[in-house]
This record gives sequence, structure tokens and C-alpha cells, in this order.
Amino acid sequence: MIVVLFLVFFVLNAPLDAELERGALSSVVALRANFICNRIPGLTPRQRSICRKRPNAIVTIGEGVQLGINECQYQFRNNRWNCSSSGAENTMFGHTHKVGSREAAFTYAITSAGVTYSITQACSLGKLKRCSCDQSKKKSKVLNEGWKWGGCSADIKHGLKFSRKFLDAREIEQNARSLMNKHNNRAGRKAVKENMGTECKCHGVSGSCTTKTCWTTLPPFRKIGDHLLRKYKKGKLVVPMVGGRNRRPVYLTLKRSRLSHTKPRRSDIVYLQKSPNYCDYDASVGSLGTVGRKCNRTSSGTDGCDLMCCGRGYNTHQYTKTWQCNCKFHWCCYVQCNKCSERTEEYACK
Ligand SMILES: *[C@@H]1O[C@H](CO)[C@@H](O)[C@H](O)[C@H]1NC(C)=O
Ligand SMILES: *[C@@H]1O[C@H](CO)[C@@H](O)[C@H](O)[C@H]1NC(C)=O
Repeated sequence: MIVVLFLVFFVLNAPLDAELERGALSSVVALRANFICNRIPGLTPRQRSICRKRPNAIVTIGEGVQLGINECQYQFRNNRWNCSSSGAENTMFGHTHKVGSREAAFTYAITSAGVTYSITQACSLGKLKRCSCDQSKKKSKVLNEGWKWGGCSADIKHGLKFSRKFLDAREIEQNARSLMNKHNNRAGRKAVKENMGTECKCHGVSGSCTTKTCWTTLPPFRKIGDHLLRKYKKGKLVVPMVGGRNRRPVYLTLKRSRLSHTKPRRSDIVYLQKSPNYCDYDASVGSLGTVGRKCNRTSSGTDGCDLMCCGRGYNTHQYTKTWQCNCKFHWCCYVQCNKCSERTEEYACK
């Protein structure tokens, strides 16, 4: 992942000879696009074609994937599954979850949210050619209750559309798993949409706010991560329903209501298989195990040594922590500190 991103950055940001003529320039850009798009591992033909048409957007998509993975690792830092086992960081757009677990579901949703977010943000910042601020908001000059749209509204519609086009282009197999992936991709996009905010600026004599100008904004990505974690906790087990002439899976229904054929909600995170307990290493189910994981001896939560180490016990590592403390500012101009130290212990699973 890092290597691929680096390659993309390197190639796209390499200084261009300003003397190049326009035609030559565009063919260089096309060549570069080809070069990059042929080298990113795991793209489907459809994704490769999108990549060639919009090479700049690929960099943004890569950033979005990374944003999603970083948030996933933050949200699951205290759990046995810590988002590393996904292997998602090793391939740019190809997840390696073989099992359709709840964790795989979360990975897809947060990645899709990350891509939606990054594209929308890049549009607002003028980094991409085919989009900018939401023009539809700018045109509507309607003043209702003393406010109007103005400034730069984030073009979430473009972000949603492009994220769907690119990520759903992976799901070419008509099977239960691709239905699951597409559903979770959508749940991720929806999480961004639902958390959009509005900011306003007052105009009027000495800030009296007789009129306001407002624009839609992206929330901090953490808010989307928190939202998706709640959805993960309430994740829904689903089963595929087959249909059509060749009896292929065509949609998903909640397993609990097999008879009534209730579909999950669009915002639900859905999964097809129960998760392993992630205690032991088992690559075939995407479990790295918890040997060597840090744990908290006094916590009764998932970060506690009992749960984290699955009853195997833990090793204690003692060390002395030192830091600068009681710093005082002396006139003028130096700072004097004491050195403080404390014996601490760290625990890691056996
Ligand atoms: C997650 O857990 C694995 C396996 O114990 C460990 O190797 C890895 O460093 C952890 N990753 C993070 C981001 O904490
Ligand atoms: C360990 O857990 C306890 C109880 O939940 C908490 O008060 C403490 O801050 C935790 N320690 C560390 C190092 O996270």
C-alpha cells in the first residue's frame, strides 16, 4: 500500500519540463497514467480504465483508502482483531478477507467512506479536474429566513458517485460475497452523507447576523468512524436469496427473518459468516492471533489481559519511564525543568 502510494506520488509529482508543448504534455500525462494504472496491483479492468481516465483521482482514492484503514485501526486498537489482519494495507484496493465476517464488512464500509470523503474533500480544495464546490448550492440564491447558500459547499454527490463507481467496479462476481461487499460499500458512503454538517457566517452591522451565508461541510472523519463502529456493533447476519434463470444470488435478507424475506436497511453493516474469536493465528480466516499484544491488567474490557490474551496469561515487562516535568519559565529567557521518573509495567499476551 505505502509502496504503491509512493510510486503514484512520485510519478505524478515528478517535475514536468515547462517547455513541453501542449500536445506532448497531454501524451506524457497519458503515458504516466498508463504507467501507474498498469502497475497498481489488484485493479479490475473496469477500475484500470477509470484510473487511466482520471489518474489524479487515483492518488486521492489511495489517500481515502489509507484514511479508512487508519480510522479502522484506531477504532479497533483495543480489540483482539485490530484491523491489521485484514491485510487491506498490503494491496491498494484488493481486500484479502476471505471470510465474509463482520470485520470484513466493517473494513469495506470504512474504506468506502474514506474514499467518498477524500474525493469530496479534494473537490472542495480544487485538486481534481472534474469537480469543485457544489454548484447547485451556489446557484440557489433563495433567501429563506435570512440565510442563503454561499461559500464552498462540499460536493458530496460527486464523492458518493465516484466512490461507488470505483469501488463497486471490483464486485464483478455475481455471488453472495459481492452482494455483501456492495451493501457495505453503500453503508460506508451513507455514513459520510448522514454526517455532513452546515457552517454559517453572519453578515450585518457589527455581527448582528441580519443575513447568514451557509455551506455544507465534511465532518471530522472520526465522527464517521464512530458512526460506523456503532453500525458494526449492531451488524446484521444475512443470507443470499437466489433468483433468475441461473439461480444466482440476487439480494440479501436478514437471517433472523428468513421466512418474511426482510431486507437489511441500506445503512446496516451486513455479514455472511460468524467471526472467529481471533485468539490464535489462522491466516485462512484472517486472524493474526493476540500473542504479543499489549493488554491492560486492570481493565475488564476487551483491552484487559483476560479477554485480550484468551486466558493464556501475559508477560510483564518492567521499565523506568523518564520525562521533563515541573518546567518553569525564567525571565528572560530560559526554561528550567526537573527530570521525573516512574517505574512502570507493561503487559503483553503470551
Ligand atoms: C495488531 O495486532 C497484530 C498481531 O498481534 C500486531 O502484529 C500489529 O502490530 C497490531 N497492529 C496495530 C496497528 O496495533
Ligand atoms: C487500564 O484500565 C483501567 C481501568 O479501565 C484504566 O483506568 C487505566 O487508565 C488503563 N491503563 C492504561 C495504561 O491504559
